[in-house]
Amino acid sequence: MTDAPTHKPLVFSGMQPTNTLHLGNYLGALKNWVRIQDTMDCIYCVVDLHAITQDAGYRHPGDLFQSTREVAAAYIASGVDPARSLLFNQSQVPEHAELAWIFNCVARLGWLDRMTQFKEKSGKHKERSSVGLYTYPLLMAADILAYKATHVPVGEDQRQHLELARDVAQKFNNDFEVPDYFPQPEPVITGAATRVMSLRDGTKKMSKSDESDFSRINLTDGADTIAQKIRKARTDAEPLPDSAEGLEGRAEAANLINIYAALADEPRDRVIGSFAGQQFSGFKNALADLAVARLTPIAAEMRRLLADPAEIDRILRRGAERARAIAAPIVADVKRVVGFVA
Ligand code: TYM
Repeated sequence: MTDAPTHKPLVFSGMQPTNTLHLGNYLGALKNWVRIQDTMDCIYCVVDLHAITQDAGYRHPGDLFQSTREVAAAYIASGVDPARSLLFNQSQVPEHAELAWIFNCVARLGWLDRMTQFKEKSGKHKERSSVGLYTYPLLMAADILAYKATHVPVGEDQRQHLELARDVAQKFNNDFEVPDYFPQPEPVITGAATRVMSLRDGTKKMSKSDESDFSRINLTDGADTIAQKIRKARTDAEPLPDSAEGLEGRAEAANLINIYAALADEPRDRVIGSFAGQQFSGFKNALADLAVARLTPIAAEMRRLLADPAEIDRILRRGAERARAIAAPIVADVKRVVGFVA
């Protein structure tokens, strides 16, 4: 039996402003963010401090802020409501970085050594990676815990980082003898497509950094591009199966079915039933129509919002003020707990 929760339910999540958002970001996270607004208070952040952990080509500072605006526009265009949910960019609330430093001193090196995403992102040249890329999960823990957030809607690839955030919270509470000070944030990983795979290779995650633009569907792609990418998506030679077991060992087929189910908001088994025994060509046409219907209105709304950057900037500024009003007293209290002040 678990104890009754003592922390007020609060949602926190974020995305990096590196390149354009894609279908994986949308189905794995954003779509769930929109839904969860109906039942809980939510804080959605554009994590620009995380974006500088990798050299993503921000030679000109203006590029980074333009990406921040685009990600904010994608949130709003997908249905995040800035009147209900808090929306801001991370660098404007200094408490994130301040708490991250304290967590750098709470967490153990061995914990970070286990992070698979660092291994993937640093590749063969670990020694040339930024130190920020290595400690990145601790900034993520600080993002969440600066608000004492309890629920974190993300895609499957963030599960390990959230486990680390839970360990950091626990160790802080133990080390400073403040039981239940920080909550144990819960990952919210739901829907039919928690891990959207590349359209070119069903064993690889759909990602912003894949060299091939045909591996992903960007939220800004037009109808023709979406349809073309889906028609060219890799598949196998068999027709679609009539049961979920029939998808075993068929990563590309399973990925397309999952994408369909998530976009249509239908259970996967129903999608499998509707297309059982059909060839991929017909299924891909249906999937292309569905993806175009769901995604092109988001792209159109993003364009509309980005035509008025001053309004986006106003939303971000207002969000940062409200976020800071929550995080500042918590981080001030943390400083007292740690002993920086009497
Ligand atoms: P990021 O920017 O890589 O991705 C943003 C969100 O999209 C999800 N996602 C996917 N979901 C399904 N299939 C995919 N192929 C796919 N690719 C990405 C991610 O799981 C994520 O939810 N560290 C985070 C950002 C972050 C954060 C936080 C998240 C910083 N602080 C605090 C939650 C709470 C990241 O790099 O996400």
